[in-house]
Amino acid sequence: MDIKKSTFCAHRGASGNFPENTMCAFNAALALGATWIETDLNLSSDEKLVIFHDANLGRTTSDSGALSLLTLNEIQSLDAGSWKDEAFSNEKVLSFQELLNWQDTHGVNINYELKCDAANPNKVVTILSKELRDRDPKKIIISSFSEKLLIESIKVIPSYRHALISERLPKNWKNKSRELNLNAWHLNADYLNLNQVRALHRERLKVRVYTVNNKTKYKKMNEWGVDMIMSDYPEKFLDF
Ligand code: G3P
Ligand code: MG
Repeated sequence: MDIKKSTFCAHRGASGNFPENTMCAFNAALALGATWIETDLNLSSDEKLVIFHDANLGRTTSDSGALSLLTLNEIQSLDAGSWKDEAFSNEKVLSFQELLNWQDTHGVNINYELKCDAANPNKVVTILSKELRDRDPKKIIISSFSEKLLIESIKVIPSYRHALISERLPKNWKNKSRELNLNAWHLNADYLNLNQVRALHRERLKVRVYTVNNKTKYKKMNEWGVDMIMSDYPEKFLDF
């Protein structure tokens, strides 16, 4: 029997060997054949969405402190590649607009994870919807760990697919799926089991998992029939 392969998604680009969430990581993912990319959105002090994972700058840039205190220009003056390797010292933090334009050029699909502070969901989603304008909803997923951000986004831009991210599938997942009108869950592969995958699929919910970098785990997720596997290594898994 043929097993349908799970869709591969390059987590933060080809972030295993390139500085995460930078143009070179996205270009590498594309060159390796990825059709889906996962990335993270945060908000600058001048209310522009930027492609950045952490709330703080220290781990992946040449500065430290909170990203939300700097303007887009200030953030883009930083070196976002040297932390990985000196060879990447020219990499910058991308704006959402730059990545959307790159996405349009290459036709790739992107799962945008909203990381922004959830204290004011209305503000964040107003900015998101303005910046998205009339992009092709078929090529975009909006996901978040924050129910507040997700609920607001589903309300304001319902034509885009949305998914709730959770480390573990909560006990009340069925009610929550109905309450939020979800069609997908993004779950940590380490805490997922086959019965949960089957139960989610019975309810016609998509199951997408993160972050799978181990070959045994990747094979198991494929066998379980999860819909998408996010991994830092397209090099290892695209032809797996
Ligand atoms: O979108 C799935 C995954 O990226 C969530 O966790 O911390 O890697 O953004 P994190
Ligand atoms: Mg993420």
